[in-house]
Amino acid sequence: MSVLAIAGSPSHPSRTYSVLEYAKRHLEAERVSTTLFSVRDLPAEALLFAQFDDPAVKQAIALVEQASALIIATPVYKAAYTGVLKAFLDLLPQNALVGKPVLAIATGGAIAHLLSIDYALKPVLSTLGARHIFAGVYIVDSQIQRQPDGGVQFAEEVEQRLQISLNELIASLQPTQSLVSSAS
Ligand SMILES: Cc1cc2nc3c(=O)[nH]c(=O)nc-3n(C[C@H](O)[C@H](O)[C@H](O)COP(=O)(O)O)c2cc1C
Repeated sequence: MSVLAIAGSPSHPSRTYSVLEYAKRHLEAERVSTTLFSVRDLPAEALLFAQFDDPAVKQAIALVEQASALIIATPVYKAAYTGVLKAFLDLLPQNALVGKPVLAIATGGAIAHLLSIDYALKPVLSTLGARHIFAGVYIVDSQIQRQPDGGVQFAEEVEQRLQISLNELIASLQPTQSLVSSAS
């Protein structure tokens, strides 16, 4: 069981990346192996020109294939998700998310685009075959404070929401018990 956390911000440092670092710490404390991957680390040309055969792109697609579940985090850009995240999602095979639970997380400057996860990102995840998509987590910038040492501090309410969603993700990875009891 392993989780792949995809960071969709072109910026560094990045609030969404910090959220995924928090998620990775939480998941690994619960013994769920977690890989953090940032789309900004892929070659820009490969993304821009949709180079499916680029070695780094192939490696990233393999990470998606190997994952049992995914977290996809993006900043809100122009009321949707980032272009660089879309460029990466466009490189995935059509059925890349079949059978994989997905948790979407977005950070935005304002609460106004709270629903962007639902109207913008979720339809794309659905097209890629995801059927188990959790309620998204939306975080506004004012709830993420950068610290002088380079770390970040989340508002308590954000940590609580993140923990609930991450625990749901963990629960989805547990083998389900058969509802059919053996005849006695
Ligand atoms: C090009 C651009 C467009 C943005 N558009 C929006 C927007 O439409 N709505 C919003 O709430 N925030 C918007 N923001 C703010 C970012 O979503 C927000 O600061 C986010 O937390 C940045 O995440 P990052 O630090 O991971 O890059 C925009 C920021 C940039 C740079």
